[in-house]
Amino acid sequence: MAKASYFITIEGIEGVGKSTNIDAIKIYLENLDIDYLVTREPGGTELAEKIRLLLLDNYTEGISDTTELLLIFAARAQHIEEVIRPALDQGKWVICDRFTDATYAYQGGGRGLEREKIAELESLVQGRLRPDLTIILDLDPATGLARAAKRGNLDRFEKEELEFFDRVRESYLHIAEQEPQRCKVVNAAQSVADVKQDILRILADLGV
Ligand code: TMP
Repeated sequence: MAKASYFITIEGIEGVGKSTNIDAIKIYLENLDIDYLVTREPGGTELAEKIRLLLLDNYTEGISDTTELLLIFAARAQHIEEVIRPALDQGKWVICDRFTDATYAYQGGGRGLEREKIAELESLVQGRLRPDLTIILDLDPATGLARAAKRGNLDRFEKEELEFFDRVRESYLHIAEQEPQRCKVVNAAQSVADVKQDILRILADLGV
């Protein structure tokens, strides 16, 4: 029997088209009359959105890698307690634009923090909560960053060099290799229509 609520996360480097595809997922769920909530990280609550501003702001100079990691998990703790768990408990599907895989990819792969440190915080903040399904939109960083640059001012992460995003991408692909049941990689270099079709197929495979 299909479960009542699903926790689905959407991941990928900058410029992969997360927002466009989340819009497609919303329409899909609405057509099935499924009660859902779309949220994002870092953010999703008033406090967590304030932490997001600190994290993305270019004026946040000299932030250490460990401080960055702790701020991300502080925002996540609030988000889980205030938004994610209550929604799942009410039987809603939660669609989250980024979650802890982004921490493994950006703070682990990108910044070079030890995986074990991230895993410790993950179990402290999340307990047993993990996404049921993670869609990783995969794209080469040069293309992704060029798309992101077209959107306007670059935030503190978007200003990182290309090699940083190469490491982020590799980390995402590594996670997908380790957890093929949960993580589905979609080639985001395809046309918008083809990416959407792949995602809808993955959702249909949930059998709901
Ligand atoms: P967004 O631009 O997709 O909203 O994400 C904001 C930035 O935050 C993005 O550059 C990735 C970064 N980020 C991390 O570094 N670690 C995390 O755990 C999360 C959720 C986001």
